[in-house]
Amino acid sequence: MKATAIILGSFVASWIFLAGILDETPFYVPTKWPKPIYDFTENPLSQEKFELGRTLFYDPDLSRDSTISCANCHLQYSGFTHIDHALSHGIDGKIGTRNAPVLINLAWQEFFHWDGGVSSLNKQAINPLTHSKEMDNNLVEILRRLNQSNFYRTRFYRAFGESTIQTSSLLKALANFTVSLVSAYSTYDRVKRGESKFTPQEQAGYKRFKKYCASCHQEPLFMKNEFKSNGINYMPTLGDLGRMAVTNRKEDSLLFKIPTLRNIEFSFPYMHDGRFKQLKDVLNHYGNLHGNQTYYSNELKKLNRPLTSNEQKDLIAFLKTLSDQNFLFNPKFKYPKNERNASF
Ligand code: HEC
Ligand code: HEC
Repeated sequence: MKATAIILGSFVASWIFLAGILDETPFYVPTKWPKPIYDFTENPLSQEKFELGRTLFYDPDLSRDSTISCANCHLQYSGFTHIDHALSHGIDGKIGTRNAPVLINLAWQEFFHWDGGVSSLNKQAINPLTHSKEMDNNLVEILRRLNQSNFYRTRFYRAFGESTIQTSSLLKALANFTVSLVSAYSTYDRVKRGESKFTPQEQAGYKRFKKYCASCHQEPLFMKNEFKSNGINYMPTLGDLGRMAVTNRKEDSLLFKIPTLRNIEFSFPYMHDGRFKQLKDVLNHYGNLHGNQTYYSNELKKLNRPLTSNEQKDLIAFLKTLSDQNFLFNPKFKYPKNERNASF
């Protein structure tokens, strides 16, 4: 704990904090990063809201039968995704149709869900809370439970000044937590700040990455607010048409959001349906598109041959420089110990 505080303290000085954001909330805008897209004026950050959002995120009582919390599918040490499960597992062991995405640097994301079907982080949580295969609850029941709890009534009062808890505050508290999940202290970031150096292998991987991958997985976020096809084929059993399901436009068929690659070492399995278990499988896929797949976005045409095994090793070494232990083990994002769950 103490060591972490010292490490955090020593580089905090080089970060630019948004005006009005309290030091106690973990959100910050790393130097040289673009401006966040999230509108903080609609849901200003505060220590109270962040802590409350964190408690809610880890509270299974929000689900119909009090077994599933947000954290069941979004685990911190995997970048807030569900490792080992290709498709999400929710209430009563029900299996969904998509792989849980990581929750990383959401303040820079314009769309949410793999098809961008949700455009506001402040509203996103309604989906898992009420989804029949996720938490299967309804807002009336959730608010009834929260309003019955002295713990939550006090906390919501302190955070939002309301004596009766409202849906909008529940959603804002959750968003206050999820928008604060900033990951920007990986080896890659330290190299960019001149505090560390890539190994020759990582450097070679970085060069390949810039050539073949960075047009979509754009630095420094390693994502892009666009929908593309990376050539993975359609699975008839899942029937997932991606972006087209939202827009109804034929040209959006099989396009998916370009996800971040930060902490990718720990967020397996990969893709919207979790079809690839290892990074090696992902690289084999990208190297074998040419001549085998008719449908994929232009950015991938440069890679018109399989990657050699050395190139794969280099690329994987580079991808691992995007792992951020400060994020994955940040005590501020962990399961909170407080009166609410002291008895669990
Ligand atoms: C049963 C597993 C499950 C539970 C429980 C769950 N999620 Fe998710 N979450 C998912 C899946 C799957 C998606 C992707 C949905 C899609 O693309 O249609 C997702 C997407 C998201 C996203 C959008 C991320 C992005 O990059 O697009 C956020 C934010 C999120 N969840 C937050 C939460 C919060 C907050 C809770 C608790 C209220 C929660 N989730 C509960 C499985 C789950
Ligand atoms: C045309 C744009 C594009 C290019 C170029 C591209 N990708 Fe992707 N990538 C995507 C999209 C879109 C997805 C999500 C696809 C899906 O799940 O359906 C994705 C998914 C991934 C994933 C899985 C992420 C996750 O959370 O599941 C990895 C890993 C990945 N790409 C690595 C790479 C690497 C390495 C390269 C370079 C060899 C590369 N990508 C080039 C668009 C691209």
